[in-house]
Amino acid sequence: MDKTYNINGGYKPTLKRNADLDGPDFFPTPAWATYALIENEEFKGDMWECACGNGAMSKVLERTGAKVRSSDLYDRGYGDFGVDFLEEKYISNNIITNPPYNSAEGFVRKGLELSRNKFSLLLRLAFLEGINRQKTIFSKQPPSRVWVFSERITFYPEGAEIKGSGTTAYAWFVWDKDAPAGTELKWFEPGYKEKYGQNQL
Ligand SMILES: C[S@@+](CC[C@H](N)C(=O)[O-])C[C@H]1O[C@@H](n2cnc3c(N)ncnc32)[C@H](O)[C@@H]1O
Repeated sequence: MDKTYNINGGYKPTLKRNADLDGPDFFPTPAWATYALIENEEFKGDMWECACGNGAMSKVLERTGAKVRSSDLYDRGYGDFGVDFLEEKYISNNIITNPPYNSAEGFVRKGLELSRNKFSLLLRLAFLEGINRQKTIFSKQPPSRVWVFSERITFYPEGAEIKGSGTTAYAWFVWDKDAPAGTELKWFEPGYKEKYGQNQL
């Protein structure tokens, strides 16, 4: 059973790998992409980075002064480890993460359940597509806001040489329990990459 591969509410039995300690599901988020969120969305109360990896996103969130809980399924040197978000019961005012790509749907379901105020996921913009997601997520609990990046995010495995620009479009998907029904589409102004650089903190 692969705990990082969750589709339609079930774990996918797979032989593809035992753990993804060095695998494709671990991509630390460059600091500027997290700054774009916290400079455009207000968060009240505590935060939880529930798939924190090496703390790349948590360290930016901590700069807001909020109490931040950091956890991950694996020990990547930051926060609590051995915590499977998909099995969690801990409630937080705000949940913010860049989830493992293969479990994004499961993270949406769980994050909506465990967040009191705002639930924010950094996802591929193409997450908006798909028959299954339309049926299970977007027709039932669409995000309140989708923040499209005008600059491309490039994800590098930890320690890799940083060069070039990404080819995949990403967005922050924000479910805000206090917002009126419906989805607002917004665009980040360019400039975050230049202001904060390509690196993690
Ligand atoms: C794409 S990385 C992002 C790391 C971090 N959120 C960031 O933005 O820098 C996804 C992380 O999800 C973790 N993960 C995978 N499955 C998980 C699960 N079921 N519960 C909690 N964390 C999980 C992986 O170990 C990995 O660190």
